[in-house]
Amino acid sequence: MKIITIVGARPQFVKCAAVSREIRKDHTEILVHTGQHYDPEMSEVFFEELQIPKPDYNLGVGSGSHGKQTGEILERVEEVLVKEKPGLVIVYGDTNSTLAGALAATKLHTPVAHVEAGLRSFDRTMPEELNRILTDHLSDFLFCPTETAINNLRNEGLIRGIYCVGDVMADALEFNKDLAEKNSRIIEILRLEPRNYFIATVHRPSNTDNCDAMTTLIQVFGRADMPVVFPVHPRTKKFLEEYGLFKRLPANILVVEPLGYLDMIRLMGSAKKILTDSGGIQKEAYMLGVPCVTLRENTEWVETLHDGWNVLVGSDEEKILTSIRAPLPALPQQPLYPRGAAIKIRKILSAGI
Ligand code: UD1
Repeated sequence: MKIITIVGARPQFVKCAAVSREIRKDHTEILVHTGQHYDPEMSEVFFEELQIPKPDYNLGVGSGSHGKQTGEILERVEEVLVKEKPGLVIVYGDTNSTLAGALAATKLHTPVAHVEAGLRSFDRTMPEELNRILTDHLSDFLFCPTETAINNLRNEGLIRGIYCVGDVMADALEFNKDLAEKNSRIIEILRLEPRNYFIATVHRPSNTDNCDAMTTLIQVFGRADMPVVFPVHPRTKKFLEEYGLFKRLPANILVVEPLGYLDMIRLMGSAKKILTDSGGIQKEAYMLGVPCVTLRENTEWVETLHDGWNVLVGSDEEKILTSIRAPLPALPQQPLYPRGAAIKIRKILSAGI
C-alpha cells in the first residue's frame, strides 16, 4: 500500500518519526513536508536527530495568515495526491498542515488516518481546536491517545474507526531518551546544575499576541529564584521585540534558540519544573516525571492534572509564582502513557486497509 504522510510543524516531526519507522515495515511511505516550519532549528534538526527519511516533497508553504497558509497547503497537497494516488493519507495533531492535508485527501476520496485524534480543549478561540474538530470529522481512522479522547469523539457522534492506541510521543521519547543522555551536552554548555533550573516555552497566540500576558510571564520568570532557560520560538521572539521586552529581560532568564529534540528532552529531564503553554511538552514533562506548570487556562491533556504533576495557571502572576515555588506533588504518577502506540497503528492499518 502506498501511504502519504503529511507533516509540517515541529511536533509532527517527532510523532511521525515513531510511526514512519513502523509503517515502512509493511508499506511504501511517501513523506510530504508542507514547509509550515522552515527554519533549520525548527525543521531540519529534527529530521537529522530522529533519523526521519528525507521528505519526498517539500511544499515550501512557509508562514502566512491562517487562511493563506491553510489554503496554500490544501492546493499543493492536492497536486501531490493527484499525482501519487495513495491508498491512505496520515496526518498528525492539530496544525494547519493537519487540517489542509486531511481536507485535500477526503475531497479526493482518499481515506485519512488522524494520529492524536479526539483531543479537545473546548476553547474555540484556539486555531488548533478548530483544526482538531474538523480533521476528526474528516478522518476514517481515528487513533486516540487516551480514553478521554475516545469519549470526546463519541460525544460528537463519531462512532466508526476509533481506536485507543496510546501516545506516539511516548514511543519517540522512549526511543531517544538514552541517546539524549549520551549525546546531548546542553546542560554542560549552559553551565546548569540538574534540578536547579526551570525551563520555559511560550508560543501560543493567547500568550504571544497579548502584550500584558507576555509582560507578566517575563516578570514572573524573573522572580523565580533559579535560572530559567527559555528556548524562544520565532513567533515569540518577534512579539518580545515588538513589545520592547527582548532587550531588557531579567538576568536569570537564559534565552536560547529553539532546541533540537535531544537537547530538549535532556534539558527537560533534569529541570526542577517545566513552565509551558505547549500541549506536547505537558505530556513529555509527565513522561519524564518532572512537574509542569501550564501557562494556559485549559488543556487537552486533562489526565496529567489529576495527581498534581501538571497545574493550569494561565498568565496569572501570583498563581504562576505559587506553582513554581510549590513542593513536589505528593501523589505518585499513574502509567498514563505506555509505549507501543506506533506498533498498534501499523497493525490496525495493515489489517484494515
Ligand atoms: C504551529 C501550530 C501549533 C503547534 C506549533 C508547534 C497551527 C495553527 N499552529 O504554531 O499548533 O503547537 O506549530 O511549534 O498550525 N516562523 C518562523 N520560522 C519557522 C516557523 C515559523 O520564523 O520555521 C514564524 C513565522 O513568523 C510565523 C510564526 O513563527 O508567522 C508562527 O508560525 P506558524 O507555523 O504559523 O505557527 P506556530 O506558532 O509555530
